[in-house]
Amino acid sequence: MAELIEALAGRRARRAFDPRAVPAETQELLWRAVSVAPSHGNVQSTRLLVAESAAVRATLLAALSEGNRNWAPAAPMLVALGSMPDHEHADSYGEERALWSFHAGIAAGNLMAQATALGLIAHPMAGFDEAGVREAFGAPGELRILVVFAIGFPGPAESLPEDLQKRDQREQRRQPLDRLVATDRWGEQHSQPARDPSRSRRDGGKLGR
Ligand SMILES: Cc1cc2nc3c(=O)[nH]c(=O)nc-3n(C[C@H](O)[C@H](O)[C@H](O)COP(=O)(O)O)c2cc1C
Repeated sequence: MAELIEALAGRRARRAFDPRAVPAETQELLWRAVSVAPSHGNVQSTRLLVAESAAVRATLLAALSEGNRNWAPAAPMLVALGSMPDHEHADSYGEERALWSFHAGIAAGNLMAQATALGLIAHPMAGFDEAGVREAFGAPGELRILVVFAIGFPGPAESLPEDLQKRDQREQRRQPLDRLVATDRWGEQHSQPARDPSRSRRDGGKLGR
C-alpha cells in the first residue's frame, strides 16, 4: 500500500504538456479506471466526453475560462466528466445528497490516480461555461458537467509563460492531518480554513485557477 500513497501524492495539476498523443490502449486504461468506480445502487451516473475532432476541441476550448485557455490548448486530450442527476438517490433517511456529483468525484479521483500511474498529467478544470461544454458535445441539458480534464504526457516547463512556470513549481501544500481528521470529537482546529493565509488573495481566493 506504500506505493499507492506515493502514486497519489505524486499527482500534480501541472500545465506543461508534451504534444505527443496519448495511445489508445493508455486511454482505455483511464476509461476502465472510471468504469470500476463505485456508485450508490450501482447507478453508474458518470459519463466521459472525449474531444477528438478539431471542431469539437475548438468549441470545448472556447468554453473554458480565459485563465485555462492560457495553457489547456497544449494538452493533446481534453475530456469532460459529467453525471446524470436523474440517477440521484435519496438515502434511506430521505435526505438528498447529490450523489450524482459524489459519483463524479470518485470517478475523477480514479481517473487522476490511473493517469499518474501511467506517467500522465490529468489536470482537472472547473473553470468553464457548462452550457458551452454541453453544446460542444451535443449533450443533453440534464447532463451536469463537473470537470474538464486536460490530459497528456508532461512537457518542458519552458513551454509555459513564466507566471505559469512558477505556479507549476509551487510545492504541494496540504492541511496538517490533525486538522483533517477528527477522532471522537470535533475540535476548533477542524473549523479553520484549510488554505494557507500567507498565500496571495489576488485571485479572490480562487487559488490554482
Ligand atoms: C474540481 C477541481 C477544479 C479545478 N479547477 C481548476 C481550473 O479551472 N484551473 C486550474 O488551473 N486548476 C484547477 N484545479 C487544480 C487545482 O488548482 C489544484 O488541484 C490545486 O491547486 C492543488 O494542486 P495539486 O493538484 O498540484 O496538488 C482544479 C482542481 C479540482 C479538484
